[in-house]
Amino acid sequence: MRRGYVYEEELNHFKGLLIDEYNPVLNVACGIGRFLELFPRNGCVNLDFSPSMLKITKQRNHGSTMVLADAFNPPFRLGVFSAVFSCRLLHHQRDPKPLLRVFRDMVKDGGGVFFDATHRSSIPQLVANLLGINLHGSNIRQVGNDVERVGMKVDEFSTGFLLPAIIYGFLPESFVRVLDSLFSRILPSRSFWRVIK
Ligand SMILES: C[S@@+](CC[C@H](N)C(=O)[O-])C[C@H]1O[C@@H](n2cnc3c(N)ncnc32)[C@H](O)[C@@H]1O
Repeated sequence: MRRGYVYEEELNHFKGLLIDEYNPVLNVACGIGRFLELFPRNGCVNLDFSPSMLKITKQRNHGSTMVLADAFNPPFRLGVFSAVFSCRLLHHQRDPKPLLRVFRDMVKDGGGVFFDATHRSSIPQLVANLLGINLHGSNIRQVGNDVERVGMKVDEFSTGFLLPAIIYGFLPESFVRVLDSLFSRILPSRSFWRVIK
């Protein structure tokens, strides 16, 4: 897999949050399986409602299981997973709470739920809005409130600044790093969360 700048940054944020051995893990909306390396071989269930996405993930030969299903209606018993992971899914939701409830129900008591959020005030979000792309952005306080409202507890989060991946292809790496470290302090565009059931 070609690792782009955005992927590396996202990976580092999640690595900083995944502090324990979680097994089994439910990887909700796995896409093309970008984050498989974070999860135990044979201890990960990848769920997506796109057969073509699952096919690509399967080709990575990670040993994990593929499940074709809707994230809102996962075909599992409640509380069977040690952790639930989901990247770039919640920002498609106008109200993230219904999905957060599903994540809560899938994880065992004391288990971890890991996800990211996109911020409404960020430059990428403002540009997306101008282009007519609705990312349903959030902010730190709102995410924290939503987590509490569905009966979970925020354990840790980190923030970063990431432009849409395609833009980095045109910018020199040194410039990107300066830009991101500056904006991650003054106008973070994304946040990465570990919450506990
Ligand atoms: C932006 S991609 C993110 C993929 C992956 N998590 C990543 O970060 O690389 C969104 C993925 O969510 C899946 N998806 C969206 N809504 C879904 C739903 N309701 N149930 C299952 N999968 C869904 C899409 O098929 C797609 O693979």
